[in-house]
Parts: sequence; C-alpha cells; structure tokens
Amino acid sequence: MYGKRISTGIPGLDVMLRGGLIPGRTYLVKGAPGTGKTTLAMHFAMAGIANGENVLYVTLEEPAENLRADMAKMGFRINDSRFTLIDATPTSERYVLVEDFFESFAGSLEKMTNAIKEQIRERHYTRVVLDPVTMLKLTTPDEMEYRKAFLGFIKSMMRMRATVLMTSELQKTDIEEYLVSGVMELRMFDIQGTLYRGLKILKFRGSSFDCSMRPYEITDRGIVVYHDRVISLP
Ligand SMILES: Nc1ncnc2c1ncn2[C@@H]1O[C@H](COP(=O)(O)OP(=O)(O)OP(=O)(O)O)[C@@H](O)[C@H]1O
Ligand SMILES: [Mg+2]
Repeated sequence: MYGKRISTGIPGLDVMLRGGLIPGRTYLVKGAPGTGKTTLAMHFAMAGIANGENVLYVTLEEPAENLRADMAKMGFRINDSRFTLIDATPTSERYVLVEDFFESFAGSLEKMTNAIKEQIRERHYTRVVLDPVTMLKLTTPDEMEYRKAFLGFIKSMMRMRATVLMTSELQKTDIEEYLVSGVMELRMFDIQGTLYRGLKILKFRGSSFDCSMRPYEITDRGIVVYHDRVISLP
C-alpha cells in the first residue's frame, strides 16, 4: 500500500516505519554519544548486504579499525566484499585510506559529495552511510553555504538512486532535519541510576509512522527495538 520499502536491518524499527525506509532518499539518525547511532547505521548497511546490494560506509569520527572491531563483536559481517568502509577521520594516517581521491578531503561537504559520487560511478552503491555528519557541518562555517551543499548532496544521492543514512550528534533541531526525508532520534534517560533507552521517529515523508517512543536495547547482536511496548518510567 505504501510502495516498495527497504529494511533498516532492525525488525522492530521496520514495523515502526510501516515496512521500512522508502528507497532513494536521505535519512538522519540523531542522538547523544553512546545512544547507538553507529550500531543502527551498521544494521542498515548489513541489511543492504543481505539484500545483495553494495554498501558504502564513511566513518568520520571513529577510526575504521575500532569500528571494525566493535561491529565484529556484534556479529556484523563487515568483511563482505560488497561492503566498503572508508576512513575519513581527521586522525587517520593518510586522512583517508582507500582512494587518493579522498586524500584532499578536508571536511567539506561538497568535496565529500564529489568523492562519494565518484565512488558510486565506479561501483553502484545503493546504500551510503555518513557517520556522523556533525564534523562536516563544523568545517563549513557559513550556514548558507552549508545548506546549499547539503541540499546538493541530497539531490545527487537521489539521482544516483542511493538510500543514505547519516548520523548526527546535534541535539537541537537543525537545518538537516528540514532537508532530509526522515528523522529518527535515539534517547537515553538515567532515572535513579537505571538507564532507559527510547527510539522515536520524528519525521518520515511519504508515509505514516509510529509516533510513540519505543524502548530499545543494545545487545551482543546489536539493537533490538520493541515496537509493541511503551517505556514505563518509575
Ligand atoms: N554487547 C553489548 N551490550 C550492551 N551494550 C553494548 C554492547 N556493545 C556495545 N554496547 C553499547 O553500545 C553503545 C555504543 O553504541 P554506538 O557506538 O553505536 O553509539 P553512538 O551513538 O554511535 O556513539 P558515539 O556518539 O560515541 O559515536 C555504548 O553505549 C555501548 O556501551
Ligand atoms: Mg558513533
């Protein structure tokens, strides 16, 4: 009834999205440090692999080596040949390891867009992850320029028929939220020493969605979303 959907790799979240994400669009996952943004992005990436797609994952803060180690522990098959992990962290030895093209990348969104487009021309990636975009924003001080570059990025990805998931650490509502097709927020509450986690969909263009905040857990196998439960605080 809602057309073709693609899985996020998290069954409970797919239910909240009424079947999954609408392909070819850009989505944002936001949340405080340690809420599970990278883990969610990895589920999305691995669902692509499971579906026979090529996936491009650009890590901008967590070094690729750490990411590989953490994700392997959760059972993600990051060594699949259809999965390309690009280290774009400022501290990585050559800035970015994979392609010369990325070496000149100095944090600008436009350069990043061109670099990703170049990658997609070489190999048809249908899922792209940028984790997190926060860094790109900080290195583009001019708000107007950033907005233009951000929109340009979204349009380019749409033309290339790639579904994009980006993560952000920014808590307040920001320009990205207006420009993307969907926003999911991961929240964490510490109440009397007990940690509660909740996932909320804030926006999903072109679809209805579950508006409630649903509890989720991070386990040895990644994120589990309980789409049929509510968070009961003490
Ligand atoms: N096996 C596990 N069981 C429970 N929790 C785990 C397990 N493995 C990792 N975690 C938790 O997952 C969280 C890290 O998730 P992730 O790296 O996806 O978060 P993030 O939002 O990307 O964080 P950051 O903002 O630092 O990038 C940590 O809080 C960690 O304690
Ligand atoms: Mg992360």
